[in-house]
Amino acid sequence: MTSSQSTRSQRGRHFLQIPGPSNVPDRVLRAIDRPTIDHRGPEFEALTERLLAGLARVFRTRSPVVVYPASGTGAWEAALVNTLSPGDQVLMFETGQFASLWRNVAGALGLAVGFVPGNWRRGVDPAEVEARLRQDRPHAIRAVAIVHNETSTGVVSDVAAVRQAIDRAGHPALLLVDTVSSLGCMDYRHDEWGVDVTVAGSQKGLMLPPGLSFNALSERAIQAQERATLPRSYWSWREMLSANKDRRFPYTPATNLLFGLEAALQMLEQEGLERVFARHRRHAAAARAAVRAWGLELWCQDPAAHSSSLTAVPLPDGHSEVRLRELILERFDLSLGSGLGKVKDKVFRIGHLGDFNDLMLLGTLAGIEMGLTLAGVPHQRGGVDAAMSQLLSPE
Ligand SMILES: Cc1ncc(COP(=O)(O)O)c(C=O)c1O
Repeated sequence: MTSSQSTRSQRGRHFLQIPGPSNVPDRVLRAIDRPTIDHRGPEFEALTERLLAGLARVFRTRSPVVVYPASGTGAWEAALVNTLSPGDQVLMFETGQFASLWRNVAGALGLAVGFVPGNWRRGVDPAEVEARLRQDRPHAIRAVAIVHNETSTGVVSDVAAVRQAIDRAGHPALLLVDTVSSLGCMDYRHDEWGVDVTVAGSQKGLMLPPGLSFNALSERAIQAQERATLPRSYWSWREMLSANKDRRFPYTPATNLLFGLEAALQMLEQEGLERVFARHRRHAAAARAAVRAWGLELWCQDPAAHSSSLTAVPLPDGHSEVRLRELILERFDLSLGSGLGKVKDKVFRIGHLGDFNDLMLLGTLAGIEMGLTLAGVPHQRGGVDAAMSQLLSPE
């Protein structure tokens, strides 16, 4: 630290603009901050009933939603072990770091993963899904597993189009979808899009701390668990669904996070999901306007696939995103998302999801614009102005 920096002090809230965990609203924090109650008592049973109904509305499903006291990775594993058997073939797509990590989970569980390579800058190609499934005449592929919003790249895959591709191929594979960074941020319809298992987590669009994750099921997924023989115990839907019918859990739930979940669901419902999605779209468009005005590139190469939750920005060759983010954290108390996996030290990510508003976005962009100058990254000024103009324009 230089002597001029060491005399500079910071007050006010930290800016947590990584693409999740997202900022936890005070209302949710206050809901969590209560004495823990008996998870086998009547008050908790009533809460369980309200939560399961509220979650179904957010996933847009009439089928059950399972809640785990776990991070998103647990819900990835749950989706696989409840529906598949050792050696089963799964079709996955290399859209980024999280698709790659989910592939690793599937491999570790003894599944035979067909991993379609990708350059991380585009979403899943539905035509590729259709072609691969048509080639699979014996229907050996049991599931297609995709990430809706790639948090490492800010690239979205079209879930409805992938379902249509599976149907066009006349293939019975289950469709498993990761919505860890899209649920509560972007339009998502579990039933209408014919998804069999939706995987989600608490710490992004649901505005909670990390620690809860979810599987939304379909009737076909529930039937698949009868045949699936991968070993499972903690993740088993059977025990969970049977306990949930009695408004209980098979083991101790994360009681206080569930208090927070109720507050978060109420906030989403009061705002209205469509307005929540429109808010995210608007902030994402303004963030992209800033990036373009800086003369920097957008990592996502498909204009139809830009994420509403985050924007990923590659730096010009020879410039380190790690150093940029370190400078911005030190000087402005603003945390941005790092480059993950293959794009480590190349791409930084701006999270604009969850409990977020116009001035938080402008503050974030101002921090980045000043950071670009401090880090000596070639750019033009005016990103914040461009974002303001975008925010003032009718959608
Ligand atoms: C799209 C996506 N899937 C899965 C995960 C893994 O979730 P967790 O880190 O909560 O285990 C993440 C985490 O950021 C993610 O963004």
